[in-house]
Amino acid sequence: MIGKDLDKALTLLKKGKLVAIPTETVYGLAGNGYNEKAVIDIFKVKNRPFFDPLILHTDSLEKVKDIVSEIPKLALSLAKTFWPGSLTLILPKKDIIPDLVSSGLPTVAIRIPDHPLTLELLGKLDFPLAAPSANPFGYVSPTNANHVAEQLGDKIPYILDGGSCNIGLESTIIGFPENMPIVYRKGGLSIELIESLIGTVVVNSNSDSQPNAPGMLKKHYSPNVNIEIGDIDSMIKKHNNKTIGVISFHRSFDLIPKNQQFILSPKKDLHEAGKNLFSALRALDQINPDIILTEYFPEKGLGLAINDRLLRAATN
Ligand code: TXA
Ligand code: MG
Repeated sequence: MIGKDLDKALTLLKKGKLVAIPTETVYGLAGNGYNEKAVIDIFKVKNRPFFDPLILHTDSLEKVKDIVSEIPKLALSLAKTFWPGSLTLILPKKDIIPDLVSSGLPTVAIRIPDHPLTLELLGKLDFPLAAPSANPFGYVSPTNANHVAEQLGDKIPYILDGGSCNIGLESTIIGFPENMPIVYRKGGLSIELIESLIGTVVVNSNSDSQPNAPGMLKKHYSPNVNIEIGDIDSMIKKHNNKTIGVISFHRSFDLIPKNQQFILSPKKDLHEAGKNLFSALRALDQINPDIILTEYFPEKGLGLAINDRLLRAATN
């Protein structure tokens, strides 16, 4: 069931039930992060392997301090500048967090999301919400309540509707092994903004060196239709005997039916493009063409996260 009833969401969560919640990045599948049973249910509903740790969500730095044993200086400065926002920090966890949440790791992922409804909800709870993206494991993340309903509607009691996600790409994840900031997932907060605050960071979102982080698996965020990335004009020629779907940055293509092409931002705005990406992938998956053709976005700002998601979606 979809609705905007905050009290209903609160009551369910306090009973250990799951509720899908809106955030500015993507919708999350939320449950009480202190309650092992709720956490197990999250993994089951998503069909997610238990080795893929979850993100905890809360609404204040004070509450973060209940959950983590230490906040390195750089992490604190990032938190104070970018929270609420599309940034997840990996920090040493306190024992109060069940090992299931962190898949046995000594660290836990945490973020304060920037969505008014969810901030209000979190403010009324005395536990953090564990919430991965509200999609079946490996599929494209949901950026509105209907996306969640389509895939998980019959598995959870309530979807809190907070409209379409403003950012539309998952959060940027940063960890601090040996006090060195490392970006594990490119996301809704750009590397440039992060570096403008704390200086150069290492980006290591490579699946091989991060076996504990399936968000970084080569194949992820993936629709069912095959995707090819490159020069769209030449790929249209190459695939002229097929039905084609297109996802482009700002151009339209005369040879492709209008309803099969998704122009993410005619005004060339990477923020707008990021916001529209996952709906386009979902819509084309439903249309079910033989192939989806797309292109590399500019390698700056949110273009980095967009290219990252396209590459993983294109991996067979
Ligand atoms: O924007 C987001 O981050 C959304 C919204 C709902 O907040 N959540 C989200 O969660 O994308 P999920 O579970 O789909 O992705 C979380 C990623 C996973 O790839 C996981 O491996 C990584 O975070 N992660 C969690 N805990 C970690 C840890 N202790 N060390 C390294 N990676 C971790
Ligand atoms: Mg996910």
